[in-house]
Amino acid sequence: MQERPRSQQIFQQALEVLPGGVNSPVRSFPGLPISPLIIDNGQGAVIQDADGHTYIDYCCSWGALILGHNHPSILHAVHRQLAKGTSFGITTAVEMELGRMIAGVYPSIKKLRFVSSGTEATMTAIRLARGFTGKSTIIKFKGNYHGHNDSLLVKAGSGVNNLPESSSAGVPQSSIQQTICLPYNDEEEVKKILRTRKDIACVIVEPIAGNMGVVPPATGFLEVLRDETARNGSLLIFDEVITGFRVGLDGAQGLYDILPDLTCLGKILGGGFPAAAFGGRPEIMDKLAPIGNVYQAGTLSGFPVAMAAGKAALKELMQPGFYSNLETKVRYFTAPLEKEIRERNLPLSISRVGSMLTLFLKNPETFPAFFLYLFERGIYIPPLQEEAWFISTAHSEEQLRRTAEIILSFFKQEIAEIPEKREKCCSSTI
Ligand SMILES: Cc1ncc(COP(=O)(O)O)c(C=O)c1O
Repeated sequence: MQERPRSQQIFQQALEVLPGGVNSPVRSFPGLPISPLIIDNGQGAVIQDADGHTYIDYCCSWGALILGHNHPSILHAVHRQLAKGTSFGITTAVEMELGRMIAGVYPSIKKLRFVSSGTEATMTAIRLARGFTGKSTIIKFKGNYHGHNDSLLVKAGSGVNNLPESSSAGVPQSSIQQTICLPYNDEEEVKKILRTRKDIACVIVEPIAGNMGVVPPATGFLEVLRDETARNGSLLIFDEVITGFRVGLDGAQGLYDILPDLTCLGKILGGGFPAAAFGGRPEIMDKLAPIGNVYQAGTLSGFPVAMAAGKAALKELMQPGFYSNLETKVRYFTAPLEKEIRERNLPLSISRVGSMLTLFLKNPETFPAFFLYLFERGIYIPPLQEEAWFISTAHSEEQLRRTAEIILSFFKQEIAEIPEKREKCCSSTI
């Protein structure tokens, strides 16, 4: 076990001032037998902890860093913006410019509003859907996570899975009374509700689920959502906070060729800074104040430094061949694993769309041992089985192939150990 005295010291001190020592629960490494990672810096695909150990990073700030850490174009843009001032609480050209870039690549978005987090984006998109339709009930899906809004903390996935009710204390029953939670990828359940009820304001969905591990939509599922919401008179909201700019420049809606009524974006959008947005057709978006009567505001909304970073990131993503280059990189990692899974029937499966993926272990109880094995060999993956891993353009072929080899060596060791354990068990029963 590698020594991490400085990290442990920082965490101990953090425990005194931050609940659980963290500012977001999964960072505390729930269910893992080691003290959490404390990061000092990151460069490209590599992060360094407070004790100087380095790790190839497959979390990439939960998907925000599709270009890796400290990309020079983003740094340059941020420095230029910093020289002008950080925040004014008033409109700047840079937010208009980023807004135009996004509207230029997402056909479903003609107008958008910037906020500071994905949670704010989904919260306000739902308020807007309710304000626009005049209806109040919303539909979400089990295992989809849309941030920590009261009305959406209903059987959500990700970190809150660890709470006993798969929800949160402090959420009044009245806040979730008008939330219907249906199984993901179950089109019949959706039809049942949307064909009988007239009070549905919207259906919000992760068009590719990323918060119960990566789960792609079943064939036809998104089409049914599109058709049934249109027929019902409710809005379809795609939460593309993860998938936006990740599975393609125009996200899952581009990949599956479906236009939602509203889209929520975040993560990659801010180039590693806090920024998110929601957008759609003008007739819906103009219900927002100051034109309409749906209220939304934010001191740091359209934060110029984040807008400059987002613009620089999007410029990189728009370079010809960006996504095919990324796909090639991802295959350096997945191809050797897929080969071994096929040929040697390894106890894992890979679920992936583009550069977001999850390695599902057939026996999830081995996840802590798996995580630890990689961690000790300089590989950092999200510390929960039910999370998406992310590959960036900063990952090199060598890093990706090495990671695959280390993963395979874990399973070789596992497989070597199992017969030995079985023998012991058998001999003791004889
Ligand atoms: C799909 C999805 N929507 C919304 C959010 C909330 O975003 P934020 O953490 O920026 O509030 C997340 C966060 O991981 C997410 O994965």
